[in-house]
This record gives sequence, C-alpha cells and structure tokens, in this order.
Amino acid sequence: MRIDLPRPDTVGGPSFTETLARRRSVREFADEPLTPDQLSQLLWAAQGVSSDSGKRTAPSAGATYPLELYVVTGGGRYRYEPTDHGLEQLADGDLRAELSRAAHEQPSVAEAAATFAIIAVSARTEQKYGDRAVSFVKLDAGHAAQNLLLQAVALGLGGVPIGSFSESQVAEVLDLPPGHEPLYMVTIGRPNDA
Ligand SMILES: Cc1cc2nc3c(=O)[nH]c(=O)nc-3n(C[C@H](O)[C@H](O)[C@H](O)COP(=O)(O)O)c2cc1C
Repeated sequence: MRIDLPRPDTVGGPSFTETLARRRSVREFADEPLTPDQLSQLLWAAQGVSSDSGKRTAPSAGATYPLELYVVTGGGRYRYEPTDHGLEQLADGDLRAELSRAAHEQPSVAEAAATFAIIAVSARTEQKYGDRAVSFVKLDAGHAAQNLLLQAVALGLGGVPIGSFSESQVAEVLDLPPGHEPLYMVTIGRPNDA
C-alpha cells in the first residue's frame, strides 16, 4: 500500500549552528508516535529529492544513490520512495521489539517512535566505481544518518545512531531482497526529558 506524505518544509527551522550545538545521542524516549509531518521531514532530510535533476538532500558518490531507506514504527514497516516522496507500507504491526532483538536488545530501538534503517544496494555504485564502492556506499550512509540526526534535533526530537546489530537478523526483520544489506540505523523519538 502506498502512503502519501505531507510536503516537507524546505525553508524553516532553528539555525543550523544551534542545531549542531544541540545534537547529542538520545536513548530514552517518550511513548509517542511521530506525526506525519515529522516522519515526512525526517525521510526527506535523509534521502529526499531536492533538485529538478533528481539530486537529493544527502550527497552520493557519483550520484549513484545506493541507499534504500526503511522505517519501522509502532504501525508497521515501510520503504521510502524518494522520487515521489511517498511511503510504501510493507507490513503492519509493531516490529520495534523484534528489531531491538536484532540490535542486541538495545532498549532505545524498542522504545523510540521510529527506527530508520539505511540499506545498501552496493551494485548501483560498483557499476561506476568498482572496488571503491565498498567505502563510498558507507560514506553515503553516514551522510544520510547525520542528516536524520540533525533534522531530528531541528524538530525538537532526539535520536541515536545504531551500528551495533546483526546484519542477518535486521535483514530478516525487514524482509530485505537479495543484494540489499543493512548498513546503519537511526532511532528517533521524542526525548523522555523534553
Ligand atoms: C558508527 C556508530 C555506531 C554507533 N552505534 C551505536 C549503537 O549501536 N548504540 C548506541 O546506543 N549508540 C551508538 N552510537 C552512538 C555513540 O555511542 C555516540 O555517538 C557517542 O557516544 C558520542 O556521543 P554523542 O552522539 O552524544 O555525541 C554509534 C555511533 C556511531 C558513529
């Protein structure tokens, strides 16, 4: 099922310097879902299209765009479609506890409103760069993750990057097709003390 997202804000928010200064990993979250506006903004920040030529908010080696972005919320599992800024719902139900188990039982993953999983389809970048793609794809993922973390702060939310997980278990929870590898995750919600 396809879900339309509200249009992202491309002009507002607190100053960039203030956003940078406020970023800190947050691991305890209020029991509160993201609003559609927040979800839309976060997805756009990570991989949204921001130019007429199709280029995105995060840089990408040779504009090869090897990343897929999945999100797990209390409502289901989704895949972001940057070209039309939509979400494809892949499953319903709350998979956060299962994803937390795949991330060595990290409570933040079970408790946060959403975890964004950054998935590599390295073949897209290998076609252009051969062996260099191994590092290029990871650098792409770092850019997307940092965009997510800073956008979270700018929305009054908090997040933590999650690198400690079993790749095979995350791939299973997300039901990834062959050639799609989990690289990095970012867990986001309303900080418990906000
Ligand atoms: C590659 C990478 C992987 C990380 N993995 C985890 C993780 O699995 N769980 C976690 O709670 N924090 C994780 N972190 C967050 C770091 O612990 C955190 O960034 C660091 O302690 C510095 O604190 P700060 O983010 O508040 O500045 C990771 C950070 C990076 C860059």
